[in-house]
Amino acid sequence: RDLTNIPPGPKPWPIVGNVGGLFVPCFIQRWFGHGSDSSVDKENPLATLSKLVSIHGNVFSFFVGNQLVVVLNGYEMVKDAFLNHPEVFSDRPDVPVVTILTKRKGIVFAPYGPIWRKQRRFCHTTLRKFGLGKLSLEPCILQGLATVKTELLQLDEESGGAGVDPAPLISNAVSNVICSLILGQRFHHEDREFSMLLSLMARGLEISLNSPAVLINIFPLLYHLPFGAFKELRQVERDITVFLKKIIAKHQETLDPENPRDLADMYLIEMLAQQAAGEEDSSFTEDYLFYIIGDLFIAGTDTTTNSVLWILLYLVLYPDIQDTVQAEIDKVVGGHRVPSLTDRGSLPFTEATIMEVQRLAAVVPLGVPHMASETTEFRGYTIPKGTVVFPNLWSVHRDPTVWDNPDSFNPARFLDDEGKLLKKECFIPFGIGRRVCMGEQLAKMELFLTVTNLLQAFKFRLPEGMPPPPMLGRFGLTLAPYPYTVCVSTRSSNS
Ligand code: HEM
Repeated sequence: RDLTNIPPGPKPWPIVGNVGGLFVPCFIQRWFGHGSDSSVDKENPLATLSKLVSIHGNVFSFFVGNQLVVVLNGYEMVKDAFLNHPEVFSDRPDVPVVTILTKRKGIVFAPYGPIWRKQRRFCHTTLRKFGLGKLSLEPCILQGLATVKTELLQLDEESGGAGVDPAPLISNAVSNVICSLILGQRFHHEDREFSMLLSLMARGLEISLNSPAVLINIFPLLYHLPFGAFKELRQVERDITVFLKKIIAKHQETLDPENPRDLADMYLIEMLAQQAAGEEDSSFTEDYLFYIIGDLFIAGTDTTTNSVLWILLYLVLYPDIQDTVQAEIDKVVGGHRVPSLTDRGSLPFTEATIMEVQRLAAVVPLGVPHMASETTEFRGYTIPKGTVVFPNLWSVHRDPTVWDNPDSFNPARFLDDEGKLLKKECFIPFGIGRRVCMGEQLAKMELFLTVTNLLQAFKFRLPEGMPPPPMLGRFGLTLAPYPYTVCVSTRSSNS
């Protein structure tokens, strides 16, 4: 590999590269720190990346072991790479722990190529069918929100003023939507099997990201060790496999090709159609469906849940914005019917508020890693084939060349002089280019319905004397707010 003209960056240590110098302090803080003082923000990896931008500029590199990683910062760089050089920058790297778990099938971590394209096109088209018409997920989302509203009030009453942690309720409602979409079933959050699947998925993620099992990424054979996190990871994987395979088998037994109930049915119908057409090397198989289900669960739950949690948090911290959103909902929807998707377009301030929180919170701060599929010249540097490329979406949303006062919370930046919603191309919480989020429309639908329904019903505030959590968030697969509680009161205009 010719590394003479790679983007600048800190000098790597032998064997381990820059991981020790750059990120170990962040993890020490995460694992042993106290969680709520200002050092949490300082030790967030995003703060480390910002420091590197100030030293090396908007394209810099570092090494993880001997793997070259390039980080693209600011709107111009990310746009240039993913919109102007899509054939080079749309591949995914082979991350050992992810490869072991996904076999590089599914969509999120599938290599860029014809199989990914066919699978993605099919799932994307299918997902769109759940936005409108008889398969619309709107009733399911509204039903979930009705439960959230009842439980929020009940838990608030029981809390004696300490407030409610909204995270489990929101997470459950969001997971229910994914369940309905993929598996056609709505589970109650006390349903044992459902809770088990969700906790298995959460545990699997936790082990792969935040335990000694991360070492599998450097020494893949560790995966087979018969103890500790390694053994647990294999067990979790086996349990998820049994659960999902059972559900797929049940779908096959009860499949009615004329009346598909969900994405799994539609996938099986496509699979049978391709078999009937004699497509011998079709990638549409039960095995592939299995990995797609896993992908949609992982990609569609934490992202949406944390976006809602950030929105609630910003609204309690900015009560004047909360009032303005509520005034708009009262004016357009009133208090006698629940807000619905038909109200989209008539609630620009509410939509602008959702977008402004998505901008500042940057729930998927570094996107999903991309990989250069060939050696290329980019902005005067050589990016060798196989380089891992991270789009720093967090930096795009705070880029002072495209946002005025980027650190300030100001929903009005998304509105024109007449109060109409502005489209801003530098607003990219769902990424950009060929790998842009496949669930963007579903996520926007969920965010809109959740925010309008909850804000129509309740006033939210922080419990008396409770300091707000640190605002940079907990860095993981997604950027989550630190846990917080809210006090909930029914709005009189709506009672
Ligand atoms: C990929 C954000 C919800 C499915 C992504 C990416 C981002 C993102 C930044 C990476 C884009 C890239 O690689 O450059 C979000 C946010 C969400 C959300 C902020 C919620 C607010 C969802 C939902 C689903 C979903 C609800 C599905 C039901 C996917 C899939 C990919 C993806 C399948 C991989 C696309 C590919 O590799 O071709 N998302 N997402 N996401 N997302 Fe989402």
